[in-house]
Amino acid sequence: MNTIYVINGPNLNLLGKRQPHIYGHETLEDVKEACIKVGSESGLAVKFMQSNSESQIIEWIHEAREAATGIVINPAAFTHTSVAILDALNTFDHPIIEVHISNVHKREPFRHHSYVSGIASGVIAGFGTQGYVFAVQRMAQLLAATATERMS
Ligand code: DQA
Repeated sequence: MNTIYVINGPNLNLLGKRQPHIYGHETLEDVKEACIKVGSESGLAVKFMQSNSESQIIEWIHEAREAATGIVINPAAFTHTSVAILDALNTFDHPIIEVHISNVHKREPFRHHSYVSGIASGVIAGFGTQGYVFAVQRMAQLLAATATERMS
């Protein structure tokens, strides 16, 4: 079974309490449950994590190099600032999907640039927490396609 990492950046631990008019009322625990459920329906084991620390996120990306065949990442504010997270993701040889709960393009100009988008297989933004479910489903399709290619 493929394992994927779903990595969440700073302040997402406060999901549900934090600016609910932007990020909604669901908690990160709700999102975790939804990802694990859709993952298991699609044949993926989901490891779900969140940190407020850039270094911890980088460590998880390094760990994923050995332990995972896909990364779904919402780097939160680090999206717009972190060359270090980009560099770590560049060492990962499998698909990466970037997720944002809000439509970052409708918000302040500093949120319009992402260091991650240029190396992601796809970017999902503005679909609320449902974006994570879309990302896990898409990841399952990408990994299934890779497996089929390998067999042919
Ligand atoms: C976010 C958007 C970022 O700009 C912001 O810093 C976040 C969350 C989102 O999911 O919409 O913390 O990544």
